[in-house]
Amino acid sequence: MRKRESAIKIAVDKYGKERKNLLPVLQEVKQAKNYLTRSDISEIAAEMDLSSAHVYGVASFYHFLDLKVRGQNIIWVCKTISCYMKGSNDILLTLEEALKIKVGETTSDGKFSLLQTNCIGWCHKGPAMLINDQPYTDLTPEKVLQIIDEYYKKS
Ligand code: FES
Repeated sequence: MRKRESAIKIAVDKYGKERKNLLPVLQEVKQAKNYLTRSDISEIAAEMDLSSAHVYGVASFYHFLDLKVRGQNIIWVCKTISCYMKGSNDILLTLEEALKIKVGETTSDGKFSLLQTNCIGWCHKGPAMLINDQPYTDLTPEKVLQIIDEYYKKS
């Protein structure tokens, strides 16, 4: 609780309370915590003298501002047509099998959440995915397993 409060306070102190700074504040808090809860939304609203409805509206407009509790690492597999044509479904199935979760779920150890996203701008090197903010391209099922393995070794 204290850590969350301080992440919000630090972000508001860093960017200022003006309405125009809401997006960087939301991004900073999201980066610190990996997700935003409704209580975070209320706290940010209170800190910045904004309505919770306004903060929620901005946060939910940008899907990377995830309002659900997620794992330590969030995997976003591109589901848009170019990646789909290059086998993104195999990538997704490989991840589901390796992590033993379905899309939208988090592993029981809290290490990974698996989600899908629209185009992330790497169409020419698809299939592509992001893990947190890091893009991974030209994916194959074998490459995906190696990437996941490396994340497990790092943690
Ligand atoms: S279609 Fe997948 S990155 Fe653009």
